[in-house]
Amino acid sequence: TVGKSTNIVWQECMVKREERQKILGQKGCVIWITGLSGSGKSTLACTLDHQLSKRGNLSYVLDGDNLRHGLNKNLGFSPEDRAENIRRIGEVARIFVDAGVICIASAISPYRKDRDACRQLLQPGEFIEVYMNFPLKLCEERDPKGLYKLARAGKIKGFTGVDDPYEEPPNSEIVMELSEGKCPTPAEMAIQLLSYLEERGFLG
Ligand code: PPS
Repeated sequence: TVGKSTNIVWQECMVKREERQKILGQKGCVIWITGLSGSGKSTLACTLDHQLSKRGNLSYVLDGDNLRHGLNKNLGFSPEDRAENIRRIGEVARIFVDAGVICIASAISPYRKDRDACRQLLQPGEFIEVYMNFPLKLCEERDPKGLYKLARAGKIKGFTGVDDPYEEPPNSEIVMELSEGKCPTPAEMAIQLLSYLEERGFLG
């Protein structure tokens, strides 16, 4: 699907991004939450979304699992399909940012090159990577959907962390250090992200 469109011309519209930002009273950006299955990505995404809405900021969650019910329903979990999944989420996120919305993307996004390609779609500072550094052992103990159990039993092949890779991000903007003894609540993590956004002028 990539690079097949030819003879296409970009159509410029009259309403500029700055005007949309003025209407909304905020600046668009992407909070990109990456990490293993069961590391709490979706919970953090929804908690942050809720806190932003309570402050009067407009955000929208792009959740990997949810998008696989629609936009990405034709994709599986091979490296190529995961790359296409992340590319599409990145492109949708870019549209949200252009619209002035704070886009919260939560997807395992296990490959560094795919995450970095999404970063490249945005202006410097607009892509804020949040790494849920939660040990595999603990994700597996939590196993909220029972998927690790199925993967260990060989009933799911190519499960991230079990028999498929997760490439740790070497320089995320924010790393949530989670361990057995030290585990901030989703609300605490969301507050940390809110402060980050506020300090950088995204919240208006
Ligand atoms: S990816 O790697 O970014 O394309 O994955 P993502 O779109 O975030 O989807 C991850 C959710 O799909 C379920 N699932 C799997 N995850 C990993 N590996 C395999 N093989 C797999 N099969 C199904 C799982 O519920 C993931 O949800 P989360 O929210 O991460 O637990």
